[in-house]
Amino acid sequence: MTDNILRTLVALYDPLPLSDRFFVRTRLFLSNLYQLESYVPKEGRILDIGCGHGLLSNLLAITSPQRQVLGIDIDAKKIAAAQSTVSNRSNIQFKVGDAAVLPDTSFHAVTIADVMYLIPPDIQRAILTSIACALEPNGVLIWKTHSHRPQWKYTITYAQEWLMTKLGPTKGAGIFFMDSEESLQAIRNAGLDPTVVPMPSRRPYSDILFLGCKSNKNSPSQYES
Ligand SMILES: C[S@@+](CC[C@H](N)C(=O)[O-])C[C@H]1O[C@@H](n2cnc3c(N)ncnc32)[C@H](O)[C@@H]1O
Repeated sequence: MTDNILRTLVALYDPLPLSDRFFVRTRLFLSNLYQLESYVPKEGRILDIGCGHGLLSNLLAITSPQRQVLGIDIDAKKIAAAQSTVSNRSNIQFKVGDAAVLPDTSFHAVTIADVMYLIPPDIQRAILTSIACALEPNGVLIWKTHSHRPQWKYTITYAQEWLMTKLGPTKGAGIFFMDSEESLQAIRNAGLDPTVVPMPSRRPYSDILFLGCKSNKNSPSQYES
């Protein structure tokens, strides 16, 4: 990710109040969201679930004008902030929406970054199945979350997320990190071929990325036990 792109991304938030600008810069600094971009097809319809202020959605839209990006989030305030970054760009839009009720459209990729663990596991599994149904053949799920290992990073991650949901600005039903095996199995059960992408970093978070590819032959019923 070049400095130029990061500058362009941050500048989109210049019209927002100081508190939003601070939040967005901190999020960008503390996360490695930019690493997700390379796994997203350069063109096609992209759904970013739980987009928050729209950092990842905006990154995807500015790095390739051939992407048509839709960001959804349950938090109407965050969506209003994200909408105020759009200006006259035509390849991005933001809407209030719940991960449990996906838009009635197909997508070439679905990103979901640091969102699933705010949702109870049974609903996470149902969402993965809906994502698999919404993906075009050869479409891809890009799911960033946190692993239970290493333990010390997981403890810091959990504590931070707990604070963000109890005292901070993150809306969610609680904290429900599935372990890596459960996540991989849930992706398989949804009918996607999973891959794990480790995200080692010097940050004190246990980031991990799961990809789920929809091949033409898979369907959820093949994997249901
Ligand atoms: C930690 S933030 C991550 C935001 C963004 N994906 C990012 O990486 O910067 C989690 C987001 O998930 C959203 N969220 C929680 N539950 C959701 C749900 N059921 N449907 C859609 N969004 C949800 C929250 O409102 C919040 O904006």
